[in-house]
Amino acid sequence: MNRNGTVLVVDDEEIMREILDALLAREGYEVRLASSGQEGLEIARAMPIDAAVVDVMMPGMDGLAVLDEIKKVDEDIAVIMITAFASVETAIAAMKRGAFDYVTKPFKNDEVLVVLRNAIERVRLVAENRALRQNLQERYSQFGNIIGRSQRMRQVFDLIIQAAPSRSTILIGGESGTGKELVARAIHSNSPRASRAFITVNSGNLPPDLLESNLFGHVKGAFTGAVYPKKGLFELADKGSIFFDEIGNIPLETQPKLLRVMQEREFMRLGGVENIKVDVRIIAATNVDLHRMMEEQRCREDLYYRLHVITVQLPALRERKEDIPLLVQHFLHKYGEENQKPDLELTPGALDLLLEYDWPGNVRELENVIERAVVLSTGATIDEELVPEQVRNRPVFKMPQFTLPPEGIWFNDVTADFERRLIESTLEAAGGVQKRAAELLHLKPTTLNEMIKRHDIRPRRRRAENGSTDEAAAVEPAEERRQDGGAEVDVLVNGKGRKADG
Ligand SMILES: Nc1ncnc2c1ncn2[C@@H]1O[C@H](COP(=O)(O)OP(=O)(O)OP(=O)(O)O)[C@@H](O)[C@H]1O
Ligand SMILES: [Mg+2]
Repeated sequence: MNRNGTVLVVDDEEIMREILDALLAREGYEVRLASSGQEGLEIARAMPIDAAVVDVMMPGMDGLAVLDEIKKVDEDIAVIMITAFASVETAIAAMKRGAFDYVTKPFKNDEVLVVLRNAIERVRLVAENRALRQNLQERYSQFGNIIGRSQRMRQVFDLIIQAAPSRSTILIGGESGTGKELVARAIHSNSPRASRAFITVNSGNLPPDLLESNLFGHVKGAFTGAVYPKKGLFELADKGSIFFDEIGNIPLETQPKLLRVMQEREFMRLGGVENIKVDVRIIAATNVDLHRMMEEQRCREDLYYRLHVITVQLPALRERKEDIPLLVQHFLHKYGEENQKPDLELTPGALDLLLEYDWPGNVRELENVIERAVVLSTGATIDEELVPEQVRNRPVFKMPQFTLPPEGIWFNDVTADFERRLIESTLEAAGGVQKRAAELLHLKPTTLNEMIKRHDIRPRRRRAENGSTDEAAAVEPAEERRQDGGAEVDVLVNGKGRKADG
C-alpha cells in the first residue's frame, strides 16, 4: 500500500476523474479511477482501499447505493461524497448512511484535500485502535476461564500479571463466589511454578492437631495411629504453590507454625526433630475481615502483616454488573455443551432480570442459575419463566397488549381510560382501602383521592358472604375514613353502569 493511502474515485464524468486523478496523485495518493458505481465496487472488492471519493449523481447505480455497497465490502473505508447541487438533504442522507463527509461541486482543490486527509487520518486511528484492542485481548486471554472485562476485573488481571512471577505471598479477598480460587489458580499457572503442584488446603473445621498433621506431616509414632511417617501438604507443594482456601479458619494455636514456614520456609513434621526446607509460594484467600479478627485476637498480628504483602480484592458481582452478559454467555456455552443444548440464548426479558438482581452469592450463584435454566430449558431460548423465584423478586408490571387501529386513537381518552382502570384494579387489590392503594401505586393518598374523584370512581357496597356489609370498613383506621371524606364504606368495585366521565 502506498504510504499516503489508496483512494478510489468513482465519477461518470471523464473530466472530473481527470481533475481528481491529477490532484490526488500530486499529493502522493495512489489513485484508482472508476467511471461507474459497478466498476468502483469491483475495484473495492479486489484491492485494499483507504478512502473513496464518490459522485452522488450517476446514471445506473447512484452515489448513495455505491456508498452502501462499499461499506459492505469494508466498513472502515472512508467515503467522501461529491454532489453537484448544494443539496443538503442528499448530503445528510449520505452522512447518516455512513459517509465520512461531503464536498459540493464546484469545489476548491484544497477543500477536497483537507477532507481527504482527515478521512485517511481517521482510517488510521480506527485501525490502530483495533490493533490495541487485539493486544489487550491477547494479554488477558491467558485468563480465559476468568470472565470479565470491567475496569475492576482488568485491575485484577493486571495485578495477577505483575505478581505471578515472584514468590511473594498473595492474599485474595472477596465475598463468597467471587472467584478467589480461580484467581489463585491463575496466579499459579502464570508463575514459573506452573508445571509444579498446586495444593489446596481446606482448613474447614479440622481440629488443630489433625490440620497440623495434614500441613506438616508426621513421623512414625508421633501419635497413636501414626504407624507410618507421612508427608504433609507443604512437602507435597515443594517448588509449587500452596493455597489456603480460607485463611481465617486457621486456629490461633496453629498460626505460629504457619508464620514460621512463611518466614523461614522451613518446618518440622509432627513429632520430628529435623527441619525440613521447602520452596513454596503461599496464596491465601479469605471472605472474612481479617483486620477485625486481629482486633478480636483471633488472628495474630504478625501473621496478619505477613499475609498482607500483595493483596487482590475481588469485586462483588453487583459491583461489575456490566460483566453479567459475558458471564451468561460463558456459562450458557459451558452447560450447553454438557447438556447437548448448543446455541441456547437468553430472551432480553430474562437477561434484564439477571441484570436487575444483586447476586449475594456472586458468580457462583449466577453460574447455578444458568446451569439450572439450561437443564430445564426445552426450546431454543431461556425466558423469564426459567429464572428462579429469588432472582425474579423485582416487581413486574406487564403492560397490556394493544393493537393500534388503522384510523388511530384519541391519546387523551385512551390514557385516561387506562388510568381509571389501573386505579380500579389497584383499589380492588387493596381491598378497597385507599391508603393501601396509594402505597401500591406509590402515590400520595391525596393525589389518589383526587384522581378517584376526577374519574368518578364510586365506592360500592360489597355484599359480604356472612351478610355483614362493611367488613373492610370495620378494620379501616379512623384516619383512613377521614381521607375518604368520611364515607362509611371503603370497598370499591368497578364502577359499571356509572356515567361516562367528561
Ligand atoms: N470471573 C469468573 N469467570 C468465570 N467463572 C467464575 C468467575 N468467578 C467465579 N467463577 C465461578 O464461580 C464459582 C465460584 O468461584 P470460586 O470457587 O473461585 O469462588 P470463591 O471466591 O473461592 O468462593 P468461596 O469464598 O465461597 O470459596 C466457580 O465455579 C467459578 O468457576
Ligand atoms: Mg473458594
